[in-house]
Amino acid sequence: MDSGFFQILGIVVNLAHFLKNSFISRNLFPMIHTKINKKLAVMLLFMTVVLVSCIPKYLIPNDADLKTAQSHWPTATAPQLKQGYNIYIDQCTDCHRLKKLKKFTEDEWTKTLPKMGRKAHLDSAQYSNVVHYIFAKRENILAKKKK
Ligand code: HEC
Repeated sequence: MDSGFFQILGIVVNLAHFLKNSFISRNLFPMIHTKINKKLAVMLLFMTVVLVSCIPKYLIPNDADLKTAQSHWPTATAPQLKQGYNIYIDQCTDCHRLKKLKKFTEDEWTKTLPKMGRKAHLDSAQYSNVVHYIFAKRENILAKKKK
């Protein structure tokens, strides 16, 4: 999370510089003004992409998540959880933003996931990997919160 904070801080500082520079050049060189606006638009677009793609690090599956997953599904492996995570942050954000794991109860996830798996066109292995990832990570996030 803190590296995300510095990333955003960096963007804000850059933007401040850029606005200052473009203000000065607009007054000094009105001819290249439109070019600068185009540059600004590209930069704003880039910033939006960076901000939206700012996925928190704690969502990456770790050893504790693997243990939790294996307590429910003994054959679960680390690469499978990693694939589940990749699907969750990648394909599950095609139509909406990342849905927070702790925002829904276990029953709600159980009800929603088959529908979302179909929407994301997952095959059965991909589907079980994303389901295992979601339930294991969710359980550990909630367990940490209680401490
Ligand atoms: C093809 C588009 C699409 C994809 C891909 C998709 N979703 Fe969704 N999702 C939706 C839409 C539309 C809704 C809201 C309407 C609904 O509930 O059907 C939604 C709603 C949700 C909700 C909220 C349900 C509720 O009860 O409010 C969750 C959670 C969710 N999606 C998770 C996922 C996960 C996890 C994946 C990846 C496996 C995924 N979605 C992939 C379109 C998609």
